[in-house]
Amino acid sequence: MSRERLVSPELISKEEETFNRTLRPPTLKEYIGQKRVVEKLSIALEAAKKRGEALEHILFFGPPGLGKTTLAYIIAHAMEAKITTTSGPALERTGDLMGILTNLGERDVLFIDEVHRLPANIEEFLYPAMEDFKVDFVVDKGMFAKTINVPLKKFTLVAATTRAGSLSAPLRNRFGLFYHLDFYNADELKEIVLRSSRILETTIDDKGAEEIARRARGTPRIANRLLRRVRDYAEVKGSGEITAAVAEAALKLEGVDERGLDDLDRRFLNAIIGLYHGGPVGVEALAATLNEEVDTLVDMVEPFLLQQGFISRTKSGRRANEPAYGHLNLPSLRPRAAELPFRD
Ligand code: ADE
Repeated sequence: MSRERLVSPELISKEEETFNRTLRPPTLKEYIGQKRVVEKLSIALEAAKKRGEALEHILFFGPPGLGKTTLAYIIAHAMEAKITTTSGPALERTGDLMGILTNLGERDVLFIDEVHRLPANIEEFLYPAMEDFKVDFVVDKGMFAKTINVPLKKFTLVAATTRAGSLSAPLRNRFGLFYHLDFYNADELKEIVLRSSRILETTIDDKGAEEIARRARGTPRIANRLLRRVRDYAEVKGSGEITAAVAEAALKLEGVDERGLDDLDRRFLNAIIGLYHGGPVGVEALAATLNEEVDTLVDMVEPFLLQQGFISRTKSGRRANEPAYGHLNLPSLRPRAAELPFRD
């Protein structure tokens, strides 16, 4: 079930994509947060530029909305190169990818989002392109089939995935640089909200920025989306200035609570607690109960709830933790036996 969700880490519209472009930091200097990634990436960039070479292929992984696309644009900008963007599910035929690859110049960036969703034939087609900067293209069929070997310019593949674990080993092994993006802390998100407000020429005070940051689920894309809603509210219901009270009222109206949880998160927690006695319960059972896709729960709902300690993943399924009971004002059902966390 696809439904618009104010705190979804995914892009919710084309219009939002355009809006985000105006807020995207163009350089690493202006990039807030992900300090270790920024430091390692700036060294790799400088070294590649000094040698006059293309940057090694890069894999960014981590939850959606944390800046993978932004970093790809920053890389292209820093290398003074062109960027072409596509995504795993958008590439259906080798011919499509062939066209893209042969148009890349020396040091250009090819950004593939959701690379874990590349069809198998496209993935195999990509191997020689990444490794030897050539592609083997088959033309004609049957007895007239010919393989044409096409050389490519030395480009950089920047790929992004929410699930590094679901990449095949041959694909993973062809990347030289791996960067894991993690949720941002409240101070970083506050800085991002203040920076975006400056670009949008919106008046906001420190406390207003903190209120938005606190509800942004560690995700800049959500922080910027909440800022837009609060800005609208401030312009219609107030003087246009964003204060803590304005931010709080606007986001309450949108169903986003003080920890950034929305209706779907609360339904998710309530189902584990109310219907499955706090768990453990399998994600498939939860998806059926909530009438949601398993992927939606795994990619959009669980990462933040796990990171905040509201739930844990155990061998036998998901369980609700103490903070979830506290947040929902529910009495804890029973003391819990210690259980080893399970990672997959
Ligand atoms: N806008 C969105 N993400 C950002 C970041 N990490 N730094 C600065 N501005 C941003």
